[in-house]
Amino acid sequence: MSLSALVTAGPTIERIDPVRYISNFSSGKQGYAIAQALAQAGIHVTLVSGPTVLDEPKGVTLKTVESAEEMLQESIASLPVDIAICSAAVCDWRPKEYSAQKLKKLSAQETLELSLVRNPDILSALSYHKKRPQLVIGFAAETECLLDHAIQKHKQKNCDWLVVNDVSEGAVFGADENQISLLKKNASIEHWPRMKKTDIATQLVTQILAVF
Ligand code: CTP
Repeated sequence: MSLSALVTAGPTIERIDPVRYISNFSSGKQGYAIAQALAQAGIHVTLVSGPTVLDEPKGVTLKTVESAEEMLQESIASLPVDIAICSAAVCDWRPKEYSAQKLKKLSAQETLELSLVRNPDILSALSYHKKRPQLVIGFAAETECLLDHAIQKHKQKNCDWLVVNDVSEGAVFGADENQISLLKKNASIEHWPRMKKTDIATQLVTQILAVF
């Protein structure tokens, strides 16, 4: 059986003016490792990635995007797929208005008010879509009340599995290792030991293959 997967990875960036943007911390390492491990398992992978400095994983179709809106469009365009894994650190907000000209400083006392509007939620868009992938996996980046927040997120986002990360110390970002917990639909939770992001990817793919 030939399976297909969509992986979102990296941050999104949301432009303020031609020289400035807001974004989230994310190296994209975990998502790229998952895309690579899926491809090595013979799965056809579309990787929709925000800006990263990583090399293109071998054997995957890479679509590079900048903003959450673009990531949403490319993700929906990749449907139908059997598996969706949303590891991207998507900006929850974008500037309400984009200034086509560079915003100039006026005085030293000046404060700049930036209005932000909500971005679409890509994971929810996929998990509530009429072409919903059979297995939808989200990530949760939490700084407090990890499990309570994760259980709530798991339900709200209608995903099958949720990979829970503690990002309170910022140590996860850019690192080669992580410690995750895997929350599944029947509310079972597995606490994995700290390991390389590439090993997390391999073990996750082993569990994914067991579903099909
Ligand atoms: N996500 C998404 N689109 C968004 C925000 C998040 O697809 N606009 C996805 C992420 O890729 C991840 C999951 O939703 O799989 C949870 O992301 P996280 O940043 O932990 O949570 P948020 O949904 O942003 O919620 P909160 O900021 O309230 O914790």
